[in-house]
Amino acid sequence: MSSTGSSHPKQHTMNQSPTPQLKVISDETALPLRPQAGSNQISQSNLTLVQPTMLEAHSVSKTYRKGRNEVPVLIDCDFQATNGKITAILGQSGSGKSTLLHLLGTLDAPDQGEIYFDGTRIDNLPRRKRDLFRNTKLGMIFQFYHLLPEISALQNVLMPLMIQQGFWTYLARRRQIIERAKDLMVRVGLGHRMHHKPRELSGGEMQRAAIARALVAQPELLLADEPTGNLDRKTGSQILELLHELNQQDGLTIVMVTHDESVAKSCDQIIQLRDGRIEGT
Ligand SMILES: Nc1ncnc2c1ncn2[C@@H]1O[C@H](COP(=O)(O)OP(=O)(O)OP(=O)(O)O)[C@@H](O)[C@H]1O
Ligand SMILES: [Mg+2]
Repeated sequence: MSSTGSSHPKQHTMNQSPTPQLKVISDETALPLRPQAGSNQISQSNLTLVQPTMLEAHSVSKTYRKGRNEVPVLIDCDFQATNGKITAILGQSGSGKSTLLHLLGTLDAPDQGEIYFDGTRIDNLPRRKRDLFRNTKLGMIFQFYHLLPEISALQNVLMPLMIQQGFWTYLARRRQIIERAKDLMVRVGLGHRMHHKPRELSGGEMQRAAIARALVAQPELLLADEPTGNLDRKTGSQILELLHELNQQDGLTIVMVTHDESVAKSCDQIIQLRDGRIEGT
């Protein structure tokens, strides 16, 4: 286990990551990458070029404003998530974990600072490119699941593909797409609950549906907000095991928010947030 701190220079060129993005390593030591994560890996004879850092934030600050009140939530935060690893963002309630995760997932924009994915700046993307980034590269698990209540678990899981593919392509490939979603639901242990609506599912089952929904479009990066936070210890451990399996078998890079030190310790890297600032651990 290791921690990453704030070692980046504050000045750098726009739209280009300030850290060197490629390093040459031998094939034997290459980080596990899924085949579709081609943008991260370039083979040259027996050498592989791998981008060691998938996600980076530099000097990110965020203040919420309500009337005259200003609530500084994130202050000058630096963050790095390594390709193929699980990074935990650990902190107490209100420390800014969800806010940071939302910025990393381009759901909100920082007031200051920059965020990079695979060396490309993502915090200031125009809307279309931002949507494309989210639909193709990113899977998200929200703190309170955010499943649509009126449709079945399977339809919830299919939703990102409907959005990503567009209505007509979705219709044309419907059978194939549904098979993929069903396979994934079986894999996350929800094969017996596909046609149940969210209110007919337990907390652990809703979380499994949320994980399947986040993964159905085969993202390179999974951002998970307290994936075990609302579950009892046993169910939480099963979900954590599933995330570790997805990381180890599929090479999925994961950033996981948690307030639970034991969950954080199971991860490869820990970023500690305290009152909106990142501390070394
Ligand atoms: N939209 C908003 N407007 C105003 N303040 C907000 C908003 N969203 C979050 N905050 C405030 O920002 C602070 C950090 O919130 P955040 O949700 O990031 O914390 P957290 O670490 O995820 O907490 P928890 O563990 O309870 O989920 C809190 O004090 C919260 O009240
Ligand atoms: Mg939160």
